[in-house]
Amino acid sequence: MRQKLENIRDEAIENISKVKDLDQLERLRLKYLGKKGELTQVLRGMGKLPAEDRPVMGQLANEVRYLIEEQMDEHKKNLEDKLLNYRLKLETIDVTVPGTNIERGNLHPLTSVLNEIIDIFIGMGFEIAEGPEVELDYYNFEALNIPKSHPSRDVQDTFYITDEILLRTHTSPVQVRTMEVQKPPIKIIVPGRVYRSDDVDATHSPIFHQVEGLVVDEHITMADLKGVLDVFVKELFGERTQTKFRPHYFPFTEPSMEVDATCVTCGGEGCRICSHTGWIEILGAGMIHPNVLKYGGIDSEKYSGFAFGLGLDRIANLKYGIDDIRLLYENDIRFLKQF
Ligand code: DAH
Repeated sequence: MRQKLENIRDEAIENISKVKDLDQLERLRLKYLGKKGELTQVLRGMGKLPAEDRPVMGQLANEVRYLIEEQMDEHKKNLEDKLLNYRLKLETIDVTVPGTNIERGNLHPLTSVLNEIIDIFIGMGFEIAEGPEVELDYYNFEALNIPKSHPSRDVQDTFYITDEILLRTHTSPVQVRTMEVQKPPIKIIVPGRVYRSDDVDATHSPIFHQVEGLVVDEHITMADLKGVLDVFVKELFGERTQTKFRPHYFPFTEPSMEVDATCVTCGGEGCRICSHTGWIEILGAGMIHPNVLKYGGIDSEKYSGFAFGLGLDRIANLKYGIDDIRLLYENDIRFLKQF
């Protein structure tokens, strides 16, 4: 029995020293110290020994067990230390390495300018309205007092879907759509996409954007029109910008006018941008034609109003010094990043 115990001891110590991982070590523990382990088996045989030998053998067996346990604990600690060191090395974070740069996007110049315009009009008590891009001939032309013979109705200018349905050529149809459902006072702006059958060049695009304005109430006069638009232009282009109201013709307003602002680029001195006139055209406007009020179901004896329409793309280009409308639609990230 002594021999057996000593064999187990020597073999166990030898094996333990070779163990490379914790699983292996656990298997060895079972092999020697488990319920069916080799040492346990030997201890079971103790009963068969002569009584006087038992204490000596018992002591030896305990020593062997203690030794094996000790070796295992020590080896286990070693393995755990190694594992920890390995993981620490693997998971080291170099806090001095520069982070990966996550690029931030930015608003499209059209969106930025529109947001600015919206803020200005909201500040003057306007609300935002919208209408469909696929529109009826009725709202796009008829109800705006645009006669059947008007040149803008030509297929050269308008994308027709059927005789009665088209892609709206301006945001003005939302004037009558709004009057139909809302009684005065009305004070809205209508931003939106519009379509015209134009060839693409530096100043033309078949898709572009307008912002319509509509004010209807009792006692609205041209003084209101001039006041609102003068404030708008000054807020958008700067306090020193001046406005000029030139007579013009639109079928849906009477009287009608175009509104010029002193050139954003030269301040009125004259430059390439303003063709050396010192002025640039900003919007169309006028007092709403009584026929249009009638189409909207509004009593033109009691109410009056003014309307205006501006080209958003042109305004964005003026504000940012962009000289080609196509740049707004090409989505070239190198261009868009600059705003
Ligand atoms: N609808 C016109 C256009 O597309 C712009 C315009 C002019 C709108 C005068 C108006 C206005 O509301 O009063 O050219």
